[in-house]
Amino acid sequence: MEETRLLSVLDYEEYARGRLGPVEAYFNSGCHLEQTLKDNVSAYSRYRFRPRVLKDVSKRDMSTTVLGSPVSCPVGVAPMSMCRMAHLDGEMGIAKACERHRVPFGLSTLSTVGIEEIGTGAPNSVRWFQLYIFKERRLTETLVQRAEAAGFSALVLTVDAPVGGRRLATAREGFTVPGHIRLPNIDASKSLTTDVANMPYMEFVAKQLDPSVTWDDVRWLQNFTRLPLIVKGIHTAEDAREAVSHGVSAIWVSNHGGRQLDGVPASLDVLAEVVDAVGGRCEVYLDGGVRSGFDVIKAVAIGARAVFIGRPALWGLVHKGTEGVVNLLQLVKDEVDNAMALLGVTTLSEVNRNHVIHKSFLPRL
Ligand code: FNR
Ligand code: LAC
Repeated sequence: MEETRLLSVLDYEEYARGRLGPVEAYFNSGCHLEQTLKDNVSAYSRYRFRPRVLKDVSKRDMSTTVLGSPVSCPVGVAPMSMCRMAHLDGEMGIAKACERHRVPFGLSTLSTVGIEEIGTGAPNSVRWFQLYIFKERRLTETLVQRAEAAGFSALVLTVDAPVGGRRLATAREGFTVPGHIRLPNIDASKSLTTDVANMPYMEFVAKQLDPSVTWDDVRWLQNFTRLPLIVKGIHTAEDAREAVSHGVSAIWVSNHGGRQLDGVPASLDVLAEVVDAVGGRCEVYLDGGVRSGFDVIKAVAIGARAVFIGRPALWGLVHKGTEGVVNLLQLVKDEVDNAMALLGVTTLSEVNRNHVIHKSFLPRL
């Protein structure tokens, strides 16, 4: 597809199709019947806008803060494993693109660029470290210390993956991690006996990650880190209240991009439930199926402080490495700006639930 034709995130998706080689299924697929994967995207078309007019929108400001850090817009990039399989710029490309736009990004525990490298390569980025808790707790502790030392400003504890999801597409093709790909965050650990290369990926995850993790481990983590804790992978009011009672700094509504439990509702459909349960006691973020700035504004209207994209960043990488992610983020920001103007608002704090309506409430004549 010609450069000039990349006018939406879906154009980037189209561009990337067929260009990811044997890792395409790993990046793009979900689990089981992929109901949640598809629903995450289609949910946005079930919410429609209610714009207000004649509001003087000549000056607009989409900046906000996340955990006290000023950011240029309410969009960031979610943590994703092994981004160098999409493009050799990998996580560094994403980090630099986010730094350039001053938007937050998450570095996965299973990243293919190391914690320290990101700290020196994108020193002014708003960077958060995504944590998986390993059976080998010393490894988790070391990761936290390394993230603190490398200037990461928050920990994102992913709680929706005590075991891997049943990802049929990757299982069918017997997906293994290509030999040139390293996982420097965990390679450095002498305690890790298993070599990830050439090993079926889910087998690796299953072997190392600890499925016995509970809310007690959230407390354990809080006891030895000074970083604010974000809990990623919350779907219900019950767990949102539990998270608040454990003093987390933010709740991240996510179903892992449809990669874990197939059949959970779209992230957008559970956002209101979580926001209402939290009642302003901590920030609420969301990811899953966000494919435009218009989607971003719908989630902000329902109550998300910030919204994260996953796969679209990989499609940006496939197009042009770091520059591709810079361009893709600019596109989403332009859409956010356009949505604000046409909704009749000039700041994000004006965006509220009156600006959206679920399609099921529209009258049928
Ligand atoms: C992910 N995701 C993820 N989440 C996490 O907490 N740790 C991880 O290592 C990964 N790895 C990962 C790899 C790939 C290839 C994808 C696509 C996703 C989930 C990610 O953070 C996010 O929740 C979803 O990607 C958001 O959905 P969309 O935007 O991809 O639809
Ligand atoms: C994934 C794991 C690494 O989604 O979180 O592939």
